[in-house]
Formats: sequence, structure tokens, C-alpha cells
Amino acid sequence: MEDTEKIAEEAQAEAEKAENSQALYEVKTRFLGRTGKVTALLKSMKEIAAERRPAFGKQINALREKLEQLFAAREEKVKARELEARLAEERADVTMPARRRKKGGLHPITRTKNELIDIFAGMGFEVFEGPEIENEYYNFTALNTPKDHPARDMQDTFYLTDEFLLRTQTSAGQIRLMEKKKPPIKMLSPGRVFRSDDDATHSPMFHQMEGLVVDRGITLCDLQGMLDQFARTMFAETSKTRLRPSYFPFTEPSVEVDVSCASCGGRGCALCKGTGWIEVLGAGMVNRRVLENCGIDPDEYSGFAFGMGIERIAMLKYGINHIRLFTENDLRFLQQFED
Ligand code: PHE
Repeated sequence: MEDTEKIAEEAQAEAEKAENSQALYEVKTRFLGRTGKVTALLKSMKEIAAERRPAFGKQINALREKLEQLFAAREEKVKARELEARLAEERADVTMPARRRKKGGLHPITRTKNELIDIFAGMGFEVFEGPEIENEYYNFTALNTPKDHPARDMQDTFYLTDEFLLRTQTSAGQIRLMEKKKPPIKMLSPGRVFRSDDDATHSPMFHQMEGLVVDRGITLCDLQGMLDQFARTMFAETSKTRLRPSYFPFTEPSVEVDVSCASCGGRGCALCKGTGWIEVLGAGMVNRRVLENCGIDPDEYSGFAFGMGIERIAMLKYGINHIRLFTENDLRFLQQFED
């Protein structure tokens, strides 16, 4: 008969060597498993003389119990060490900066549009949007620009049919609104416009922001006061505006509006080509004929209108030098405008 003491020692040594649960399980099986050493001893019982069997059985049971305890104790240690290792490996560094969630940002044109709306909404303007596909009447005729009027050549028009076209100006919205609403009117009309035009500062599709005010006693002074306020909010606290005579069929008198260059403060730089002023929009007093076309009595009411290119405003404000950047969708450009 094998010495149970020796088996116990052997089991102890092997369990000690088992560094993980899997190895320990294997050791355990080698001793207590179905073909294990202790089980083999039990099986050998029948070869032992009957009178020695009870003592032998007792001895083996004691051995089994001892081994079970031994393995359990070892298992506890191995498991604890494994847990420790796992915790160390999975430790989270709570001071590590979190992975940033990717989020989109507003396009600089949308931003500029929203900023403009904010400024003029603060002065009581309401937003009205007209259609992008217009007919000749709203885009030209009602705006005092009949067929064969030389001013139609000022805007290279994309015609869809003889009558329908892609609007060349948001001014078309003036007519659509005045047909429906009578003064007092304070309208802001943003939107896309289209002209066959293409260079560093012109693109066949761009955005405009139209403004229209009609009421009793409206004068050019009201226009300039409002534009001064706009320039100070949009560009710089010290910004000033200047009106230069111009021509649009739907305004009389018509003006071109310059804003003092925010980049040099008016002293003259490359941006303003040394003049200290930058042209930002067209405007004027609403032509009597336009009011009449909409059933508004020009002897009772007067008004002013202005139209600005949103790309142009954004380019000036953010120092963008090519209009194509707005439509290229280059993330390196667009991400500069995220909050
Ligand atoms: N519609 C003109 C343009 O696109 C701008 C403008 C609007 C001028 C309103 C005067 C009044 O050039």
C-alpha cells in the first residue's frame, strides 16, 4: 500500500506549483478525479484482506478530505491572485481624457445667416422665404425690370423655360410678401440665388439676405441707421457705413453700401485695397412702381430694401479668401467653425 502521507505531500507540492485555476484543476483531477490516485486506492480495496479494510478505508477517506481542503485553500489563493491581476489589467484611468464624441457643426454660411437673422430679428424683422424657382414676373417684371430692360443683363440668368428661371435675387420675395401683406412691413428673406458667374468671389449658386421695410414716413436715414447698427454688431464696435449712389431698377434712389474695413480700422490695407472701405450690399428706397405693382399706395407709404451676399459677409468676417471653400466640404475648413 502506498503511503498516504507521501501522496498528501506530493499533492501539496503539485498544488503549490499550480499558478492558475486551470493548472490547479488538472492537479486536482490527477488525485481526486475518476482515474486519479486516490480513486485508484479506493478501487484497490477489494484486494485487501477483509479485516484490514475498515482501517484502510478510513485512512483513504482521511486522505481525500485532507486533499480536498488543501486544494480548496490553494484555489482560494490562486483565485485571489487572478482577480488581482485582472483588476490591474482592466484598471480604468479616470483621469484620461474621454474619447470625444464626433459631432457636426453648422456650416459657416448657416452660421452667418443665423447671425444676420438674430441681428435683424432684434430690430423687429420677420423671416419670409420665397421659392428658388421663380417666374419672370416676380424675379424681374414686378421689380420694375421689364423684358428688354438693360438691367436684366446685370444678372446672367439660368432660364428653365421661357417663363421659369432660377431666381437671381431674393428681391423676388419682396413682391411675394407685399402682395399678401400690407404695411407696416419689416421682412428679412434669406435664400439661395443663382447666376451664371464663376471666379474667386462669385459662384453660380450663392446666398442672399434681403431686407424690406415699408411704412409711413420711412426715409434713407432709417436705412443707414439700421445698417450702422448691423455693421457694429456683425463686424466691429467701431464700424461705420457709407452710402454711394448706384442703380437698381427696383429702388430709387439706389445706393451701394460700404462698411469701414474692420481689418485695418479704415486706414487702408490689402483687404480693402487701400481704400479703408469694403462694399457689402446694395440698397435703396423702394421704387414707387414696385409699391404700385403690389397694390400699396406710394403716396401714403415709403420703404427701403437691401440685399447682401451671405458668402461675402462671411468671407469678410472670417477672412476667407475663396468662395469655393464654402462648397468643397473640406473638413479642415468646416471644423474651424464648430463651437
Ligand atoms: N437684388 C440686388 C442684387 O442682387 C440687391 C438689392 C436688394 C439692391 C434690395 C437694392 C435693394 O444685386
